[in-house]
Amino acid sequence: MAELTVSSKNPAGAKVDALVVGTHTTSDGVAIVGGDLPRPVVAALEGLAPALGITGAADEVRKVPAGPELKADVLVLVGLGARRADGTFSAESLRRASGAALRALAGTSSVAVALPVEDEAELGAVAEGALLGAYAFARYRTGEATAASRPPATVEILAGSSRSAAAKAAVERAKVVAAAVNATRDLVNAAPNDLFPAAFADVAKQAVKDSGAKGLKVTVLDDKALAAGGYGGLVGVGQGSARGPRLVKVAYAPSRPAAKVALVGKGITFDSGGISIKPAKGMEAMKSDMAGAAAVLQTVVAAARLGLPVAVTGWLCLAENMPSGTAQRPSDVITIRGGKTVEVLNTDAEGRLVMADGLVAAVEEKPDVVLDVATLTGAQMVALGNRVSAVMGADDVRAEVVASADAAGEQFWPMPLPEELGASLKSKVADLANIGDRFGGMLVAGLFLQEFVGETPWAHLDIAGPAFNEGSAHGYTPVGGTGVAVRTLLGLVEGRAQR
Ligand code: BES
Ligand code: MN
Ligand code: ZN
Repeated sequence: MAELTVSSKNPAGAKVDALVVGTHTTSDGVAIVGGDLPRPVVAALEGLAPALGITGAADEVRKVPAGPELKADVLVLVGLGARRADGTFSAESLRRASGAALRALAGTSSVAVALPVEDEAELGAVAEGALLGAYAFARYRTGEATAASRPPATVEILAGSSRSAAAKAAVERAKVVAAAVNATRDLVNAAPNDLFPAAFADVAKQAVKDSGAKGLKVTVLDDKALAAGGYGGLVGVGQGSARGPRLVKVAYAPSRPAAKVALVGKGITFDSGGISIKPAKGMEAMKSDMAGAAAVLQTVVAAARLGLPVAVTGWLCLAENMPSGTAQRPSDVITIRGGKTVEVLNTDAEGRLVMADGLVAAVEEKPDVVLDVATLTGAQMVALGNRVSAVMGADDVRAEVVASADAAGEQFWPMPLPEELGASLKSKVADLANIGDRFGGMLVAGLFLQEFVGETPWAHLDIAGPAFNEGSAHGYTPVGGTGVAVRTLLGLVEGRAQR
C-alpha cells in the first residue's frame, strides 16, 4: 500500500510530483477548493476552466502544469460535484475525489492531497479514498511493472488540523480500513487455480499472523471434519471438486467484550454452476464468488488490529462448485448441520447450501447478532444494479446495516422477506428445496437462509453485483474486486461497542 502521512504544510510549498486540489461546480462556473493556493493561481485557473474543459463534476480529473508559484510539478484538479445546501461536501464525495485523483496518478511517485477537510471524519475519508484509489493488482504480471501502472509510493494529506489525537486516530483507522479493503480485493482478484478452499484457509492463517494483532485465532475444518460434523451443505457443494471444502472460523476475542458479533461469508472459490452448469460466457467472473468470505476475513482482522472491544467471529464457507463424476446431482437430498434436509433441485443455487451450514455453526455460539455476506443471486443485480447491495432480515438489524453503510460511504438498500414467497421453497421430498420462485429470486434466497438462523437477530447482505466491477473504474473503485461490505461491517461492529 502507498505510504500515507498527514501534515499542515502550505500546499504551495509542497515539493511533490503532483499536488491534488478540488474543483466544484458553482452557479457561475467552477471554483477551486482545498488548496489555499496563491490568489493569482486560483483566479487564472478558474478563469481558464471552461477552456480547459473543467466542470468540477465528480470523477473528473485534469492535470495542468503547476507553474512557478507552486513547488509541485503537476497540479491535479479533481471534481467534487456540487456542494450540499450547507456549503460542504459529503465525506463520501471527498473519499471518491481523493480516490479518483490517486487512481489517475499511477506512474507518479509522490503526491500531496489538499482537499477541503473540516473535521477528523473528513480527514479520514480523504486518507481512505487515497489509499483505496492507489490500489493495483499486479500479482500475475511478470517482468518490471511498467512505471506508468505503478500506484504512487507516497501520499501526503495536507490538512490544517492534522495534529490532534482525534486526527491521528482517524488516519490510523483509515490505514487499517484501506488495508482490509485492498486485501479483500486481492483475494477476489486471485485466480481460482491459486485460491481454492484449502489455499484460502492458509491465507486466513497467514493474514492473522501478519496482522500482529492480539486475540485472533483460526480454526479450520477440512472435508473429513465437515462430514463428521454433519455439514452437508459444504460437503455436497464441495464434492464435485478435486479440491475439498473447508469451514474456517476466525475468532477475535478481546477481554471483556461489550458485544458478540458473528459474520458468515460465502466463499465459493469458483462457481461453475456444477451439474446445472452455467453458460460459458461470463463464467470467468465467478472467481469472485468468494467475495463475501474475503470481506468477512478482513473485517475480523481489521477489528482486531483496531483493538475494538467487541468479540467478532468470522465463518468462511469455502467450497469449489464443479461438475464431475462425484458432483451432487439435481434431486440429491442433503442434510444441513442441525438436521434440516434440502432437496438440491439446481446445483447452481449452491451459495445458500454452504451458507446454511455456516449460519447454523455461527448461531450455535449464541452471538448477539449474525450477519451474512454473499454474492448470492443474479436477481440482486436485476433489482439493484452493480453498485447498490441489498440487505434483508430482521427490521432493526437491517436498519443498523443501512445506517452503517450510509456512514461508511457504501450503498446498501433494505429489501423485504415476504413470507408468502417462502411457500415456493417447498420440496416434494425434503424439508426444503434449494430453489423457489424465479421472480423475487433474491428474496427467495434470503427466505431460505432465514430457515437456519433460529431466533438470533440476523441480516443477510447480497453483494452479487457490487463485489466485482466488470465495468470501468470510478472514484476509489477499481476494475475487478471492490472490497465491498468491509467498511459497512466494520462500522457496524464499532457501533456495537457503543450500545
Ligand atoms: N454466484 C451466483 C450468483 C451470482 C450471479 C453472483 C452473478 C454474481 C454474479 C449464485 O451461486 C447463483 O448461481 N445463483 C443462481 C440461483 C438460481 C439457480 C436460483 C442465480 O442467481 O441464477
Ligand atoms: Mn451458483
Ligand atoms: Zn454462487
